[in-house]
Amino acid sequence: MPKGKLLVVDDDRNLLKIIAMRLESLDYEVTVARNDREAQEAVTDQPFDLAIIDLQLENRNGIELMEELHLVCPGMPAIILTAHGSIESAVEAMKRGAYTYLTKPFDARELALQVERALENRRLTAEIGRLKGLLAERYDFANIVARSERMRRVLEVVTRIAENDSTVYIHGESGTGKEVIARAIHLASGRRDKPFVAVNCAALPETLLESALFGHEKGAFTGAIRASKGLFSQAHEGTILLDEIGDMPLSIQAKFLRILQERQFYPVGGERPLEVDVRVIVATNKNLEELVGQSLFREDLYYRIHVIPITLPPLRERAEDIPLLAESFLKKCGDQMKKKVKGFSPAAMQRLMLHDWPGNVRELENSIEYAVAMTTQDVITEELILPSKRIAVQEPVKPLKAARDAFESSYLVRLLELTRGNISAAAALAGKYRADLYTLLKKHRINPDDFKG
Ligand SMILES: Nc1ncnc2c1ncn2[C@@H]1O[C@H](COP(=O)(O)OP(=O)(O)OP(=O)(O)O)[C@@H](O)[C@H]1O
Ligand SMILES: [Mg+2]
Repeated sequence: MPKGKLLVVDDDRNLLKIIAMRLESLDYEVTVARNDREAQEAVTDQPFDLAIIDLQLENRNGIELMEELHLVCPGMPAIILTAHGSIESAVEAMKRGAYTYLTKPFDARELALQVERALENRRLTAEIGRLKGLLAERYDFANIVARSERMRRVLEVVTRIAENDSTVYIHGESGTGKEVIARAIHLASGRRDKPFVAVNCAALPETLLESALFGHEKGAFTGAIRASKGLFSQAHEGTILLDEIGDMPLSIQAKFLRILQERQFYPVGGERPLEVDVRVIVATNKNLEELVGQSLFREDLYYRIHVIPITLPPLRERAEDIPLLAESFLKKCGDQMKKKVKGFSPAAMQRLMLHDWPGNVRELENSIEYAVAMTTQDVITEELILPSKRIAVQEPVKPLKAARDAFESSYLVRLLELTRGNISAAAALAGKYRADLYTLLKKHRINPDDFKG
């Protein structure tokens, strides 16, 4: 099977030949077109995974052609080939929906790399679209925000593993969305019509947790006036989320291990084992390996639950998600409070971007809720964002120019930290052209290379 179907449009026969040979040798199926008509015929004939289009065709502009092809093949990534020095058209192409551009003459390896990236990106987008569609049918889980590469990978894993019954191990700091992901797995699985039960293992003392999880017979202990069913039984045929699994007491860990091994357990005070069919998801913000080292967590259980690990990155490592999350919380809170709030002022958004978010998505959500509740205008302004942090910074007032420079400099540092010195990403975050960003960096004598690696 070819790795993908590519359409290459260029009026230069020699170049067409070279590109086609290159890509065919890499296992792509290549169709070539020498003008817009041939290209249009090709896409109406069969779907393509990607198009490579020359910007200057004999009688056509490549960007316009791309837009026409997109009418037939929406979502098909396009790579535009530009002549040396036509940066403006390249930028224009990206604005109008090209995946990227390559400047002629280009290196064959660069072409191969961009093609591979574009296809990978499309695959991810398609997978996530499928998952969101699936989830949107139920509740409004299409609300999961995942713009960053790392969150998109997480959602990709979710779609891939939803259908099987393997145990999932979700690790992430508090407030990163562990429960959100656990629910998404349940809803994307064949168990979606059965119960989803979430238990916080840290919330109950040992004896109560045991009977909550496994149920008890009537008279099993003082106060057990009638038999109770237990959460594992309630989750039968569905999914159970054991949150804060690191806090599960050792005695209960033994019983839990038995469920994973034999799908059986004894209710408290019960003589006969009960059978359950549940998909188990565990979540933790602790380092379980450390707990194993301290003998606070059973090693055999650790290996049993560590089947499909999913790590949720802290919000500060995926700042690209902040604007989208903020907008979505703004809308949700606005609807709930029946307040019409349109958006954030640029300064407010900057504050959101620059904060460290130790409490992650939950902290962001709470901050937005506060701002929406307090605002008297239809735009959230800066002073409503994290006001307590604001008061804490009691610096003497500087002249405006000095203050602006100081801000600019720390903003740039923060940008480069976030993007690990990747100028394109930094420019995109800041809403600046790369060239402008370079100028700013030079002004502040900041070297992006210092942030790499
Ligand atoms: N990717 C996301 N998109 C939209 N909302 C999110 C996302 N991630 C988290 N949230 C929201 O942030 C809040 C915290 O998420 P959640 O309860 O899943 O975090 P958690 O990791 O389980 O936290 P804790 O460790 O404190 O239990 C929830 O209100 C959730 O709806
Ligand atoms: Mg949680």
